[in-house]
Amino acid sequence: MNLAAARKRAGELREMIAGHNHRYYILNQPVISDFEFDILLNELQTIEKTFPELVTPDSPTMRVGSDLTEEFRQAEHQWPMLSLGNTYNENDVTDFGERVRKVLGYEPEYVCELKYDGVSISLTYEDGRLVSAVTRGDGTRGDDVTVNIRTIRSIPLRVTAPGAPSSFTIRGEIYIPRGDFEAMNAERQAKGEPSFANPRNAAAGTIKLLDPRVVASRPLDCFLYNLLGDSLPADNHYDNLMAARSWGFRTSEIIDRCSSIGEVLGFLSLWENQRKGLPYETDGVVIKVNSLQAQQLLGNTAKSPRWAIAYKYAAEQAETELLSVDFQVGRTGNVTPVANLRPVLLAGTTVKRASLHNSDQIDILGLYYGDRVIIEKGGEIIPKIVEVDMTQRTDDAVRVVFPHECPECGTPLVRNEGEANHYCPNYLHCPPQITRRIIHFVSRKALDIEGLGEETIELLWANSLIRNVADLYYLRHEQLASLERLGNKSASNILAGLNKSLTAPYHRKLFALGIRHVGETVARTLAAGFPNIDALISASGEEMESLPDIGPRISASVREYFSDPDNIEIIRRLSAAGMTFEGKAPAVAAKGPLYGKTIVVSGSFERFTREELKSLIEAAGGKSAGSVSGNTSFIVAGSDMGPSKRAKAAELGIKLVTEAEFLEMIKE
Ligand code: IVH
Repeated sequence: MNLAAARKRAGELREMIAGHNHRYYILNQPVISDFEFDILLNELQTIEKTFPELVTPDSPTMRVGSDLTEEFRQAEHQWPMLSLGNTYNENDVTDFGERVRKVLGYEPEYVCELKYDGVSISLTYEDGRLVSAVTRGDGTRGDDVTVNIRTIRSIPLRVTAPGAPSSFTIRGEIYIPRGDFEAMNAERQAKGEPSFANPRNAAAGTIKLLDPRVVASRPLDCFLYNLLGDSLPADNHYDNLMAARSWGFRTSEIIDRCSSIGEVLGFLSLWENQRKGLPYETDGVVIKVNSLQAQQLLGNTAKSPRWAIAYKYAAEQAETELLSVDFQVGRTGNVTPVANLRPVLLAGTTVKRASLHNSDQIDILGLYYGDRVIIEKGGEIIPKIVEVDMTQRTDDAVRVVFPHECPECGTPLVRNEGEANHYCPNYLHCPPQITRRIIHFVSRKALDIEGLGEETIELLWANSLIRNVADLYYLRHEQLASLERLGNKSASNILAGLNKSLTAPYHRKLFALGIRHVGETVARTLAAGFPNIDALISASGEEMESLPDIGPRISASVREYFSDPDNIEIIRRLSAAGMTFEGKAPAVAAKGPLYGKTIVVSGSFERFTREELKSLIEAAGGKSAGSVSGNTSFIVAGSDMGPSKRAKAAELGIKLVTEAEFLEMIKE
């Protein structure tokens, strides 16, 4: 490669890496695996090594990825939070051992731990209390997510064990156990909410949520793996972790001391399969030099310590042939490419299809029809294509191109800035979007219409008996009974089910309409705020946004839906068939326990800082104010509340509540 070609390629790689970093750390929507990411980064590193003049200070090889967001206060790490060098083969582990031995002059003891697949967190304790929990961020500064981390039960808020130093930092990995993850996704699917791709993404997204009550409802857990401080109980990593365990921290039972790299390799092969039976996801092993003094001697590079390395297990793979690609259009118009494969056995199941995620993924792979492809089962449930065997490609092979138009209705596809997906904007007239919306309308979570499932809807559609949800209510018994697969009895059942649905609760009808961004909770909020559909149809964006949790994205979508005469006609025909669109939703989920209240926080507190209490007030639907006035509903009063505020409160007869009483109020 000459300099000009290297410069061009380095530019391309930097752009791709920056995009993937953003998807991974900020959007929590990676489109490639860590393995594929490392291949890109390695290629860039190799170019920069060969042509050092191409290295730029902002090259992604110069820094660890950043998860910083704007919503949280940032906090500086007392010790930088480094990442680890990754290796994928045993030779690299042996080389690591060689490098270590060369510096130290002897073979040290190593500690092997599993590499938990979650998000790292740094917890700081002062005077035995948890005072901050900060994400890795850019390694120097991270997001202060303390309010969220306090909701994790396995993280002690106070450490009172006699041997524990009064101040220390402990780091670990936040994760969601596999079983809890599946249950959570099933629940989200049932509610019409999008599923998380894998437990890691779910954990990463959750710790950055702005409402700690939602965080508390998610099954987060944490393994601690690194103790830092000026007065540690022991001079080695292993004993320090054992001490931390005795103080009440959760550390893994799977941790071994190895007296040679040979023993380390034994640990790697032992856990390669055993780890699959664990209730949480792991993607490798972290190998650490045990002695803290030896760690100091070895030191760090700008990015990672020289005393530790991560060995990553390769995901299970198989090779097969790409037969064709379907571009599937979902209920909300998202177009998902799905590869049809020659059936092949992978990790115990026959695989016929693989997810291709989106157009970026197809471009990265450079796929051609008929390619021999390597598929992999990683954290995701559906396998994916990770590599193409170029050597087997024939000369006349045809490239897979992501369509510019909707494969179902021909409308030009749209890709919004910052989003990975293309979608078909013709949601009113694109056939699969309509049928999937009708299927949604009759589904259990929506109107739960007996006798009408996916197959029957497809059958009615194929026979041109329905074109939208209103048509369902004008079906006649003989039309249904004469269809093959249906008979008199089914026809009667369906008509009875439809009849019953006319009187379903109003908020379920709103949810059933399938308006983009209107899930179950939003539908309840809208039903509570607008007691009939005419009020909702004529509501302004501002009026909608005055309701809790309704923002411009939702209000714009609702207004767009009602601005289409076809939708108004559907509602008119549903009403003419006897469907009522009125009534108040039980406002359970819509308003927080402090809705409509203005609260002042004053003084210092046991569990939370003032700022955290203010966030909790807002999360519970209340407003926090700086000064006491006639509008103040009550004051959360700490130990040293200011005397002028106290006097004013007494004068106006405003109630003072303690921190504990306040927490009780927002417990729900
Ligand atoms: S020790 C100086 N131990 O892997 C690095 N890290 O790629 C200290 N991780 O940021 C990290 N399991 O989020 C360590 N048993 C373990 C780990 C672990 C997972 C993560 C951690 C770190 C990343 C490095």
